[in-house]
Amino acid sequence: MDLGYINGKFVQLDERVIPIEERGHQFGDGVYEVIQCYNGQPFMLEEHLQRLLESCEAIKLPISETLEDFRTLILTGIEKAELQYGKVYLQVTRGIAVRNHPFPDVPVSISMTLKDTEPLAEGYRVNGVHAITHDDERWAKCYIKSLNLLPNILAKQEAQEAGCFEAILVRNGFISEGTSSNIYMVKDGAVITTPLSNHILAGITRMAVIQAAEELNIPFVERYFSPKELLEADEVFMTSTLVEVLPIVKIDGTVIDKGVPGEITKKLYMQYQELKKKALV
Ligand SMILES: Cc1ncc(COP(=O)(O)O)c(C=O)c1O
Repeated sequence: MDLGYINGKFVQLDERVIPIEERGHQFGDGVYEVIQCYNGQPFMLEEHLQRLLESCEAIKLPISETLEDFRTLILTGIEKAELQYGKVYLQVTRGIAVRNHPFPDVPVSISMTLKDTEPLAEGYRVNGVHAITHDDERWAKCYIKSLNLLPNILAKQEAQEAGCFEAILVRNGFISEGTSSNIYMVKDGAVITTPLSNHILAGITRMAVIQAAEELNIPFVERYFSPKELLEADEVFMTSTLVEVLPIVKIDGTVIDKGVPGEITKKLYMQYQELKKKALV
């Protein structure tokens, strides 16, 4: 059952609960997390909540809730919604106040949606997906999981209109990340991904993939790489909480290697499944 939550109250998803003068709505003045739930259990919850607290701090949101409070809220929501396989979005905004740019002296708003979801279509995993490259037109604080997603949305829409699954963003001649994913290439047996900086989100799945590579003894390198290198890679893949580890087989119309999901990508996907099995009892 899909369920919503806003400031202390569980609600139906279609209930009208956000006042017009709410800063998430008016300014995108807030941060969020998305957590995937498997068999009724949220995967890597601690890591997501830790990043949420860091995002709150980065935009100076004065939250009194602790990681433990957020964990209790999410677990309560999952139980109430009887969520088995589904996603949880948690948003924290600077609250409800008369529209004015400076911070208001009001409590933050905490909201959440819990939704049953279908697993990603098997065809995407088996055949891989296509992508475009796109200028990274975002601001300089992409390490914050901000509600402001306009450049991501515009680039994703272009990808979709080109019949592609993702837009891979390029800043100063180098790959930063996807609109809602981290990006990797495989060259000569090593996995290469963009180093963490202000310009990308520190993906939780990225963290898990680093662990998976370590467990499989696959060399993992964090360095910058260009779109040209990407097109000449042996394999390309993307990661996120919702798509896990997903092969990319064509970029800007150029086929990557043989145009099929690569062996290292497949191994990392399988190892990610093992990590899930271990974490979820
Ligand atoms: C811009 C961006 N980069 C990377 C990611 C992947 O992060 P995670 O693995 O934590 O889902 C996301 C996820 O939504 C994202 O929006």
